[in-house]
Amino acid sequence: MGSFQVELKKWVDDSYEIEIGFGLQQQFIKDIKNGLVGEIKKFAVITDSVVKDLYAEKIYQSLLEQGYTADLFVFEAGEKSKTRKTKENIEDAIEDAMLEKGYRRDCCIIAVGGGVVTDLAGFVAGTFGRGVPFINYATTLLAAADASVGGKTAVDTPLATNLIGIFNQPEKVYLDIATWKTLPKRQISSGLAETIKHACIANKDFFEFLEENIDKILAIDKEACEHIAEENCRIKYKVVMQDEKESGLREILNLGHTVGRAIETVSDYQLLHGEALSIGMVAEVSLAKKLGYVTEEEKNRVIALLEQAKLPVVIPEYIDREKLVKKLYTDKKVKNGQLRFVVQQGIGEIVEYQENNFAIPIEESVAREIIMEMK
Ligand SMILES: NC(=O)c1ccc[n+]([C@@H]2O[C@H](COP(=O)([O-])OP(=O)(O)OC[C@H]3O[C@@H](n4cnc5c(N)ncnc54)[C@H](O)[C@@H]3O)[C@@H](O)[C@H]2O)c1
Ligand SMILES: [Zn+2]
Repeated sequence: MGSFQVELKKWVDDSYEIEIGFGLQQQFIKDIKNGLVGEIKKFAVITDSVVKDLYAEKIYQSLLEQGYTADLFVFEAGEKSKTRKTKENIEDAIEDAMLEKGYRRDCCIIAVGGGVVTDLAGFVAGTFGRGVPFINYATTLLAAADASVGGKTAVDTPLATNLIGIFNQPEKVYLDIATWKTLPKRQISSGLAETIKHACIANKDFFEFLEENIDKILAIDKEACEHIAEENCRIKYKVVMQDEKESGLREILNLGHTVGRAIETVSDYQLLHGEALSIGMVAEVSLAKKLGYVTEEEKNRVIALLEQAKLPVVIPEYIDREKLVKKLYTDKKVKNGQLRFVVQQGIGEIVEYQENNFAIPIEESVAREIIMEMK
């Protein structure tokens, strides 16, 4: 009998670049030719059925034109595809299809699409052949605002979303703002909810920029959109860098999400994530007002900006508020009858409740009052 110590301390350089611009397909091909992924000559382009015709097909074709081996793997658009089944073994199986086409370890995965594609493809990349490099070519505001920084990849299970996954950093991320022009308006607004959240968390000037430029942003003005893409990355990056594996600080990114996620579920996903988040932000800022961390004026400014972004700010009629409160307080995160809420301090800062603890325990009765008082 004996034991053997396996020494595996490692230092990893997971740095990557996020390129923000208006039409980045040429740049992408140029980077590949210049050795972004070394000697790899084989590319699995993963996309969904909507983005395929809009952008992914072109990227795939240009890889072929440059003499690379490439294949296009397409799954049905929508959150419903973000499952282990899509990853493994239904008709639009990606992994099995890749294996059948002869893909092994010497390939690179290119994710072209929104957060569903980048989450799924990033997860596939992390486990395929025990890990191959991947590149994200993001085509939604939400993917730009949120999914492109942080290295979280995951799929959903029937029980909950994003439960099965890994931390996996891409080789490079492209945020192509020109692609936002084809995004449905509802999707733009939904992505703006995370953007407004970022401003509330970390940057009052950015909040004011949004107040002044929201119409330009909704019309996909190049400069205004490039600015918000950059600012989103900067803010999320700052938080994530300080807290890569999600201990304390990263929690502040959950602003508005406690109520938001509950509404998303209770609405049976009739509301998009950003729409539910918007209502969650209204609940959060109302709580902040009640606790004395924001003024009435600041609260109204947050709500007005969400409205300007064409986001819902009232709880829809069809949602049973009592059910919503119940949903919140049966969550596994409830401790001693209290649920913790991230709360903003004025505009651009978060309340640090205790050292390195950015969420305030709230009694069910207080949360109920907030939810019942909301319009
Ligand atoms: N990994 C993370 O840190 C992180 C963070 C936030 C969200 N997410 C995940 O991201 C997902 C949501 O992202 P999403 O909103 O981008 O979803 P999505 O990928 O489903 O895209 C939304 C819809 O827009 C379509 N679409 C995409 N780009 C388009 C374009 N340029 N023009 C027209 N249509 C286009 C898609 O086909 C889809 O129907 C969720 O699954 C969420 O869990 C992950
Ligand atoms: Zn979110």
